[in-house]
Amino acid sequence: MHYEKLMRDWSGAGRGGGFALACIVCGRAAENDRASRCGHCGGAVDAIHDIGAVSLDPGPSPLRRYFDLLPVRRRKNLFWFGDGNTPCHAAEGFGRRTGLPHLFLKNESTNPTRSTKDRIASVALSRFSELGVGHLVTASTGNSSTAYARGVQLIDGIEMALFCGRGYHHRLNYPDHPTVATHLVDGDGPAVAAAARRFAERTGAVCEGGFFNLARREGLKLAYLEAFDQLPEPPDYVFQAVGSGTGLLGGYKGAVEYRLLGRLPALPRFMAVQQEGCAPMAAAFREGALSIEPRHIVAAPRGPAEAILCGDPAASYPYVRHACRTSGGRILAVGTDEIRAVRDLLEETEGIQVCHSSATALAGAVRMRREGGLPARARVLVNLTGGDRVGWPTPQRFTVVDPRVRGAGAGVRSGARGDEG
Ligand SMILES: Cc1ncc(COP(=O)(O)O)c(C=O)c1O
Ligand SMILES: [Zn+2]
Repeated sequence: MHYEKLMRDWSGAGRGGGFALACIVCGRAAENDRASRCGHCGGAVDAIHDIGAVSLDPGPSPLRRYFDLLPVRRRKNLFWFGDGNTPCHAAEGFGRRTGLPHLFLKNESTNPTRSTKDRIASVALSRFSELGVGHLVTASTGNSSTAYARGVQLIDGIEMALFCGRGYHHRLNYPDHPTVATHLVDGDGPAVAAAARRFAERTGAVCEGGFFNLARREGLKLAYLEAFDQLPEPPDYVFQAVGSGTGLLGGYKGAVEYRLLGRLPALPRFMAVQQEGCAPMAAAFREGALSIEPRHIVAAPRGPAEAILCGDPAASYPYVRHACRTSGGRILAVGTDEIRAVRDLLEETEGIQVCHSSATALAGAVRMRREGGLPARARVLVNLTGGDRVGWPTPQRFTVVDPRVRGAGAGVRSGARGDEG
């Protein structure tokens, strides 16, 4: 991965700000503004900002504050849905109980739909709208769809189809709306992604891209930039719960940018945390594997951290591995009991309620400290990426997609509540 070299090449030389789109694997320029993968090698395309021209705006909107580090060309195209500006505070009580005296928590559960994914909605919808995209389709385990649905409902000009496994319906928390279409798929993660792709082919909707949507990574990056600006001293370690690793790679890119800007003295060690019931990246990393092999794939992902149940992260693993390795971090997995205990302790000591995915990241730090892999003096930042949404609505109008039925449109039947049996 070539972030640093690309950024150095693009910076200065009188380019006058802005960003270029380039493949972070082979370094070639992207074929066009909408390309999310390299036409040459298939690598992820990213926005390479002119670091020499970055200035930060002190205003209330994180999108304006970090505009020079966002993949949007004109400020007038920004949509901000009120996300960000989340607290980052010293967790002294929790730290005392776990031997982590310099522990800081970035509490992303205070975002409008209780997860860091609200940042994706703002940045990605700004970018898609600037690119003239009016119809999007995506697949998720609930949090990003909920954030997107809220964003789409707040603006004109973009409609969106949201695909999700039927078992995750309770995690879709938005009311019915004319510009949001909900599709529940009878199947697992790959079946949901395939159904979304087929829908795009049939309707001409643009696939939002998931991990390969650079605006997702740039949106999630903002949690880190804010935290770096809020912390009294730069972190030595950061911990993030990882499903696909989109958030982790965004944070890593932000750290590289901040280091080049002189706002961080060094990269913190990036620690990616999974749960034992679904830890394909941790398994591959432990073996030193360069890619996810069939033996690492988890066919039936399980565990309390539902947002990170991604059994086959083959496409994103090499990027996550690189970010963790080059920063001196690693990918690890923690058990269900550890996740539950940490979640309870956080509520008891800090009064913060988070989801099991957030607790997974924190449990990673606790585990490493206990096992001696984290010195007591280390400054540790944990990204608490979300909280549970209790008592929120779920869409009542949806279609049910049966992936076993082949053919365009086949296997789709209209649903309404009650259709779920
Ligand atoms: C609360 C929460 N934490 C962590 C993640 C992990 O995200 P990623 O797929 O970027 O690794 C997600 C993704 O849905 C999430 O919703
Ligand atoms: Zn390439």
